[in-house]
Amino acid sequence: MFRSHTCGELRLDHVGQEVTLAGWVHRRRDHGELIFLDLRDRYGLTQVVFDRVHAAAHQAAEEARSEYVLQVRGRVRARPAEAVNPHLATGGVELEALSVQLLNPARTPPLYIAQEGGEEESLRLKYRYLDLRRERMQRNLILRHRVIKFMRDFLDREGFLEIETPILIKSTPEGARDYLVPSRLHPGKFYALPQSPQQLKQLLMVAGYDRYFQIARCFRDEDQRSDRQPEFTQLDMELSFVEQEDVLTLLERLFTELCQSITPHKRLSTPFRRLTYAEAMERYGSDKPDLRYDLELVDLSDLLTETPFQLFRNALSAGGKIKGLRAPGCAGYSRKQLDELVEISRSGGASGMAWASLPADGGDIRSSFGKNLAPGELAAIVARMGGQPGDLLLLIADQPAIVAAGLDRLRREFATRLGLADPDELSFAWIVDFPMFDWNKDEGRWDAMHHPFTSPLDEDLHLLESDPGRARAKAYDLVLNGYEVGGGSIRIYRRDVQQKVFDLLGISRETAQMQFGHMLEAFEYGAPPHGGIAPGIDRIVMLLANEATIREVMAFPKTQQAVDLMTSAPSSVDERQLKDLHIRLR
Ligand code: AMO
Repeated sequence: MFRSHTCGELRLDHVGQEVTLAGWVHRRRDHGELIFLDLRDRYGLTQVVFDRVHAAAHQAAEEARSEYVLQVRGRVRARPAEAVNPHLATGGVELEALSVQLLNPARTPPLYIAQEGGEEESLRLKYRYLDLRRERMQRNLILRHRVIKFMRDFLDREGFLEIETPILIKSTPEGARDYLVPSRLHPGKFYALPQSPQQLKQLLMVAGYDRYFQIARCFRDEDQRSDRQPEFTQLDMELSFVEQEDVLTLLERLFTELCQSITPHKRLSTPFRRLTYAEAMERYGSDKPDLRYDLELVDLSDLLTETPFQLFRNALSAGGKIKGLRAPGCAGYSRKQLDELVEISRSGGASGMAWASLPADGGDIRSSFGKNLAPGELAAIVARMGGQPGDLLLLIADQPAIVAAGLDRLRREFATRLGLADPDELSFAWIVDFPMFDWNKDEGRWDAMHHPFTSPLDEDLHLLESDPGRARAKAYDLVLNGYEVGGGSIRIYRRDVQQKVFDLLGISRETAQMQFGHMLEAFEYGAPPHGGIAPGIDRIVMLLANEATIREVMAFPKTQQAVDLMTSAPSSVDERQLKDLHIRLR
């Protein structure tokens, strides 16, 4: 028997027993006669005491270093009262070592396992197998396992089937670039890795599988961010004979029960709030607002239609808006702090930001723009925004999308600065009634806002021809604490409607046939009404774990430059391999 117990298992009940443990040397304290080693495995730590009485074992402990792998046979004994460690599950006992087997020595590790934090993330990623020994990563991966297990069990109980779909497929546009895999057997042809199993799950519905799910790996070649990786995992789902309400209700139940079971210490707001896309943009400037705090945007446009201030007037006459955000208690901001805020608003595309500060003692308002206004206008703005003594008011005048982006960033910034977002609150929300299309200025055409298989709202079907920009979709996003953690829609299942949407997206009949011929054909063989959703598992686990990036909840993530520092992927390949694939590098 290699080991009789794990390093997290021994308790006072075991006192007097002879046991065998195996694990890594976590810490070592040498007191001459006595040497203390903390032996670690993924279950915990056990203190092992080496007495010179057992000479061979003592000798081995003298030579042991951090991260050596040992097998220790010993006798469990209670710790003396003053040595009991109440913070450790095994803290009431220690193991008196009788014999030791050195299973493997270790070089001095480039990062301290016992002491987390401090080093560059690149070092952690290069030596990920060492970083993964740490408690934080263990906790996160265990949490991830439990979340996925809960999802599987829940959906099994609800009658879903887990069905795997292929990784080597034909390109499915989801708005990002594909990763391509060259074919050896078919020179010049490529498979694509799935951006999601979207088409396949819809075809499973045509096949009658009714309730499908998959813990699906997705691949997207896009710019990386803290909540984006080139490969990530979705809980991909699709259901037949359902309406939007059925999907939302089921998902709300899944996530409510999941959070109650897995993170009961967190405050979960139920029922999930619902906002239309238009409302979310109007009130928060974002389609993924963090609803743990208010800080709502206030529209001031109608107050200022006649203002003498040219900059405001120009923005309005160009079809823009003037909106404001109230930062409570921030009237005392310095010039430098205000400049920082201007920079933040610029990162959303705004050319500038106006501010007014309302002194706490009720004195005169200072502002960057008051002198340009007509009498009474500043007072009207303050009143509309509910300004109180001590507040700082921030205004942006520009095109609606730019105003929204700028104020959204400022809103998030103030929530952080003012500590308004409780890390132990989970605030889910549904954003519904997304527009069908997004105008692509650069290419002068419509893009699908979700994807081209999304159904329009019944009452907006007629707008597809007359006014596509106003047509809304049966599309919904699940938002959690300011992140988009899931997206889905009710699908088009009639060939004529699908064709109309392709036409609108400027996808020619020929291209549609080439790219989606199998979908269009399948719709002619009895496609049931269907819809689904795909929550992003990495983002959800990140938020449940209170981590700031999804890299912290993935075993082997890539860097922001999409590089695997541990194995150095991507890397060059053999000339022979390229030749087999009929590829010549330029
Ligand atoms: P969508 O593209 O909205 O929808 O993706 C669904 C969810 O997947 C997560 N996600 C990501 N997570 C990490 N890194 C990424 N690069 C990344 N991209 C997306 C997000 C997102 O909300 N097929 C549709 C779903 C459907 O219509 O059923 C789809 O993929 O949490």
